[in-house]
Parts: sequence; C-alpha cells; structure tokens
Amino acid sequence: MSEKLKPDWAGEELLSRFVNLLIETKPIYKVMKHQARQVLIKTAEKKGVPWRKNYQELETSGIEDLLPNFTNPSVVYPDYYQVPFHAYDRGNLCWEAAFDAPSATLAIALRVWPKEKLSPKAARDRLRNTFHEVLDRYSPSTVKDVLDVGCSIGDSTLTLHRYYCQRQNAKVRTVGLDLSPYMLTVAKSLDKNEEISEWVHGKGEETDFPDNSFDVVTLQYLLHELPRQATKDIFREALRILRPGGCLAVVDMNPASKVIQKLPPALFVLLKSTEPWSDDFYTFNVEAAMEEIGFEYKTTVASDPRHRTIIGIKPRS
Ligand SMILES: C[S@@+](CC[C@H](N)C(=O)[O-])C[C@H]1O[C@@H](n2cnc3c(N)ncnc32)[C@H](O)[C@@H]1O
Repeated sequence: MSEKLKPDWAGEELLSRFVNLLIETKPIYKVMKHQARQVLIKTAEKKGVPWRKNYQELETSGIEDLLPNFTNPSVVYPDYYQVPFHAYDRGNLCWEAAFDAPSATLAIALRVWPKEKLSPKAARDRLRNTFHEVLDRYSPSTVKDVLDVGCSIGDSTLTLHRYYCQRQNAKVRTVGLDLSPYMLTVAKSLDKNEEISEWVHGKGEETDFPDNSFDVVTLQYLLHELPRQATKDIFREALRILRPGGCLAVVDMNPASKVIQKLPPALFVLLKSTEPWSDDFYTFNVEAAMEEIGFEYKTTVASDPRHRTIIGIKPRS
C-alpha cells in the first residue's frame, strides 16, 4: 500500500470540500470560531500554560504605546494576509493575536508529545531542539548572520539565536522579521536582554536587506499561513539575501505525518476554520518549489511526530 502524502481533510477530497462548506456558512463559522478559542485556552491551562494570566500581563504592561516603534509605514499588506486567521477577524494585525501568541506557542509544543508529562518549557525546548538538530547538519561551518522570517513574538528567533551563539561559541547577529507590528512589539518586550539585533517590520517576499547578507534564513511555522505563490516569492527573496552556501530552513506541519492525517474531525475542522491557506499548504510540493527557485534541495526530515524540516542550500556558483 502506498504511503499517503496528505490528509483527506485537505485539498479536493469530498471530506475536505464538505468541511469547507461548513466554514463558508457564516453562522456556523461564527460558532466554530468561538469554540476554537475556548478549547485552545482550556486545554492549554490544564497542561500548565497560564494563558489568561499571560494575556492579562501583556494587556496591562503598557506596551501598546510602543506600536509606532515597530510600524514601518511603507509596508503594504498583501491581500492573503488581511483575512481572518486563528479566529481573529483581523488575523495577525491585532493585540488579541499578539497577546495570545506566547501561550499559543507553548500549547502547540505540548500537543506534539501528548502522552508525555512535559512542562510547557520542556516541550517548547524539545520542539526547537529537534529543528536545530537538523539545522546543525546543513548550516555553513561559520554562521555570523541569521534571519528568522515570520518571527511572530520572537520565540523561534530567541531560541535560534541562542543555539547559534552556543554552536559558534561567539556572538551571532540575529534578526527577526514579521509583517505584524503587534507581534514585533511583544517580541521586543520578551527580548529582555536585547539579544536580538533587530526586530524588523517587513514582508518576507521583499526585504530591504542587501544581496548575500545572511548565512541562514529560517521560516518556522510560517508556510501554513501562506498561499503557495507567497511561499515561492519568499524563497526567491531568501535566495537573494543568502550568501552562497547559505542555508534555507523550513519547519512546519508534516502532511505525511500519521498523527496529522488521523486528527479527529473536531480538530481538523477547527484547524481548517482558523487557517485560511491550509488546503494550499497541505497539497503543496515545497521541495519542488525550492528547487524551481534555484536552491539545492538537501533533505526533508520528520523532525517530530507532527512536523517536518526541509533544507535547501544556495548554490556556490
Ligand atoms: C505561526 S507564526 C510563526 C511563529 C514563529 N516563527 C514560531 O516558530 O514561533 C507566523 C507569523 O508569520 C507572519 N507572516 C505571515 N506572512 C508573512 C510574510 N509574508 N512576511 C513576514 N511575516 C509574515 C505572521 O504575522 C505571523 O506572526
């Protein structure tokens, strides 16, 4: 029997189209959206993530006044970005999304190993380490400049930065880039020791960085939020700004994962109702796109039971 490459609930399958119809029916979608948030918070709190407390701390911290510091007025938001995401009408462009994100990040990590009694931090560290282990094999021997595209509230950026500083036994310049100034404001407030060189408000498809200016570019849990054309455009930009021999590393949901393929109906309906580009993502040949853009495709590793890491290298000539 051949291995399934993607879940039946994504793409053009009957089950997928039925779920899409439910989501397109506005009153049903409204209820699903509310349910989604409640389920997420309750499950996470049961597992030790103080979601509502974390939210309240950020909400009362006064960081909202700092939003202009992380807003580049010349940024034009693409249409695909200005749709509801994760049950927020304004997607990533609101405080609710940014204040929820630190807890949501921990909850996602805990979901990877449901049968193990891990603390939220231990699960988060393990999730990041499984990605860094693959990176370790393909990164150039000397890494000085690192870019994390779609950095959100900076958890992926900070952990990546610390990993490379330790690997190089030297200070590395790490930059986080995101389209949401709300996420970047929270990222800066969580970067208490100012380890990250810059938090940049910008579009992964079109950055202001010079050609050949980074050794590593990572896209961590970004692709499932993008239509495939945007992914290709971001790959093209990564190819421009990476140095020859530099590494592009993607980590995201693994469509070939048995856990993902067998998600219970309540969960995949919830997932599809909050991720507008999931059909595009789960049916997209990421490796072929990397090669088409000009990367030397190296490997795809099931880095944990739910996620895969994909590596491409910018050719030296
Ligand atoms: C799921 S979050 C990423 C999480 C983070 N990298 C981590 O691993 O914890 C996706 C992020 O990508 C950002 N994003 C989406 N499209 C983008 C684009 N075209 N350019 C830059 N950032 C983008 C969103 O604003 C959001 O903060």
